[in-house]
Amino acid sequence: MPVDPRVESLLARMTLEEKAGQLSVFADMVRPFAPDVNPEANRRNADEVIEQVRAGRAGTLFNGVGAAQGREIQRVAVEESRLGIPVLLAADVIHGMRTVFPIPLGEAASFEPELARRTARATAVEATAAGIHWTYAPAVDIARDQRWGRGAEGAGEDTFLGCAFAAARVRGFQGEDLRAPDSLLATAKHFAAYGAVAAGMDYNYVEISEGTLRDVHLPPFKAALDAGALAVMTAFNDINGVPASANRALLTGVLREQWGFPGLVVSDYTADMELVAHGYAADDRDATLRAFTAGMDMSMQSGFYAEHLPALVESGQVTLEMLDAAVRRVLSVKAALGLFDDPYRSLDPVREADASHLPAHEALAREAARRSIVLLKNEGDALPLQGGRRIALVGPFARDVDNIEGCWTLFGDRSRYVGLEAGIRAALPPGAVLDVVDGCALETPLDGGVDAAVAAARDADVVLLAVGEPQRYSGEAQSRTQIVLPAVQQALAEAVAATGTPLVVLLRNGRALALEGAVRDAQAILVTWFLGSQTGHAVADVVFGRHGPSARLPVSFPHDSGQQPYFYNHPRTGRPETPQMSEFKARWREQPNAALYPFGHGLGYGRIEYGATTVDAAALAWDGTLAVRASVRNAGTRAAEEVVQLYLHDRVGSRVRPVRELKGFVKLPLAPGESRDVVFELTREQVAFTRADGSFGAEPGRFDVWIAPSAAAGEPVSFELLPPAASLP
Ligand code: BGC
Repeated sequence: MPVDPRVESLLARMTLEEKAGQLSVFADMVRPFAPDVNPEANRRNADEVIEQVRAGRAGTLFNGVGAAQGREIQRVAVEESRLGIPVLLAADVIHGMRTVFPIPLGEAASFEPELARRTARATAVEATAAGIHWTYAPAVDIARDQRWGRGAEGAGEDTFLGCAFAAARVRGFQGEDLRAPDSLLATAKHFAAYGAVAAGMDYNYVEISEGTLRDVHLPPFKAALDAGALAVMTAFNDINGVPASANRALLTGVLREQWGFPGLVVSDYTADMELVAHGYAADDRDATLRAFTAGMDMSMQSGFYAEHLPALVESGQVTLEMLDAAVRRVLSVKAALGLFDDPYRSLDPVREADASHLPAHEALAREAARRSIVLLKNEGDALPLQGGRRIALVGPFARDVDNIEGCWTLFGDRSRYVGLEAGIRAALPPGAVLDVVDGCALETPLDGGVDAAVAAARDADVVLLAVGEPQRYSGEAQSRTQIVLPAVQQALAEAVAATGTPLVVLLRNGRALALEGAVRDAQAILVTWFLGSQTGHAVADVVFGRHGPSARLPVSFPHDSGQQPYFYNHPRTGRPETPQMSEFKARWREQPNAALYPFGHGLGYGRIEYGATTVDAAALAWDGTLAVRASVRNAGTRAAEEVVQLYLHDRVGSRVRPVRELKGFVKLPLAPGESRDVVFELTREQVAFTRADGSFGAEPGRFDVWIAPSAAAGEPVSFELLPPAASLP
């Protein structure tokens, strides 16, 4: 972070109240405020908020939108507050602003971090045009339990994939130069282990080993910071008894001392206040003391810092040095954004009008959406649909446009949303006929709905069955115990399937689901997540074969809800089930151990064949590299893009090692008949982990390696990692 002399000069002149004000974030009640995002807490009206800005007691406002009014807020800060320090305007701009891109989990399915960088860039362009400097994104939480609703906001269950997407999103939001008017400050959140909440219940406690915390949950934060993110948001949960928002070991030990993070740490919404409810602080003042001294620089919405920090400094419980360090970080971030040079950056109503509808972003939304769709199965090449057929589009999502944006879309331009019916109608091949029937509502039956759906299915050559989770089943505070379809939709699916007409499921989902009955057994299944503004066009592109599906699951689809937390890279058990033996083995009575659809799985319209994985040498020297290869061929008649995945397994470790871990991937276009050799270079860094003694590094020994199309496919080959002193045989 650049050092700006204006920061020191301000610090020298600020009162304690003004310092606490720079560390205080309040809901932006001046501009149209996004409703229903957070619980009501400490809300002030517009006049009060402006007065706080004028008094230098509110340095950041969040979740308002609009350039013209943003300018006015900034004018008050710059011209009417005593020191003229510009305000920061923040918002939850997670996967699109006016143009809505797929939910982050869906986009992770593309296995294309570059795509995420581009959509984050487009998001930044639109958000900064609308008077926002700072986004509370990306969420980089690893979600190993699909009951948790906030998996929708991250990149799924895998750390390697999560790191790639975390970094890409930060680069996209922040752009090349943070000072540019279209650069958006990024926030890695929620620090830390928020995805590890017990039983997948949002805000619940976290009991976690040091090794899992360090090897699974922290790396995406490190990746985001290495990519330049200058903000981190704390998490609501406690970790082994210490709330993340007052966790000195994390906020100071890991972030500052180990990683040297120069940016700011902001609390999640009222997270400092919640230390009292946690029973970790006796009262508001104690909560302030604990959060602040642990390393939380900014307080969001509780008002605690504004209220208690000055007195805590006066009483000597908080040193002036500590207070100044936090204020210095916040002011330095403002300087890094160029706000001291141009406080009106990103507050340009002309640019806002120009950016209100950008066709290039709409095209990108369609591209991102179709590249996020996963084809789980395709029996008898049910897809793509060909020729002039009679198509019945059935289900509560058929006409719907209220459930395409997914969680965390506060400012989407609804007038441009394209639902399934509109998209499919626009793409109908000549001679094809489309019949659209809801069949049921999202959670309730419709009079005569099932009968109408069955009649339409009987008359059709194929049914596109649009079923899944309503949008509000995922996102914050949306945890589930049964990760299945609403019963009324399942019943609709059964009735439609009973007609015998081939069924193509267009699944709507914010998490992995446990598919059942007719939905599971359909001829073809497309996982369509929440795809955003261009949902209908993107689904039609894939259904009619204008675009071949190329995405892969970033989360394992289990057989049953009761298997959660269920993720592919689990530690080895001492009693693994074998094909020969399942008595007294680690297994469920009712369900197989293998996923219904594993992490990394997804089909295209080609037919991909993998050659054997080979290694160039039997051993990897401690400081060496080893090439791992496989040939991949498209034996089909249609073009495809294959996500070639590299997995590793450490046979013996000082801590029990995962059965497999993703360590590389590449997305390859393959023409019909085309074959390509894929090579991954291995070094010992890829097998490093938090060892039994707490140190991070590799352990010599034997490893298995796969180049495979999913976490459950392929045959491994093994190699030896030699100890430091040994030379290659
Ligand atoms: C969420 C954050 C969000 C914040 C501000 C919280 O409830 O956990 O992800 O950034 O609210 O809206």
